[in-house]
Amino acid sequence: MSSHKRVALASTADLNEGGKGVRFDVRNAAGVLIPAFVVCFDGQYFAYLNQCGHIAIQLDYMPGEFFSDDGRTLVCATHGAEYAPDSGACLGGPCYGVGLTPIEIVEENQHLYLANDNYTLVD
Ligand code: FES
Repeated sequence: MSSHKRVALASTADLNEGGKGVRFDVRNAAGVLIPAFVVCFDGQYFAYLNQCGHIAIQLDYMPGEFFSDDGRTLVCATHGAEYAPDSGACLGGPCYGVGLTPIEIVEENQHLYLANDNYTLVD
């Protein structure tokens, strides 16, 4: 049982279908700080480490801008790799089959929380 206070990584009110994502930071089990993000797609919320499968740099060219113009894929701004918003799978471009790393989250009372013991939220 964790004694950590529970902090939401985002409010669902801040996320629109295919719209701007919310960035947050996590620490992995080794204590390394890693940027992450959450987006809304098909009425659900999906979170990933903000690390491209091509080169482990952040995807968004402007903070929170992850979606393609049509809102159907997540795009890396650096070389254009495209990912499925609901799985993080590489769909094309220089990710060469290497998808995004998903982070399990849960929604409770219009807020989103980490549900993955491998990461802790940095607030
Ligand atoms: S760093 Fe993302 S496509 Fe190259």
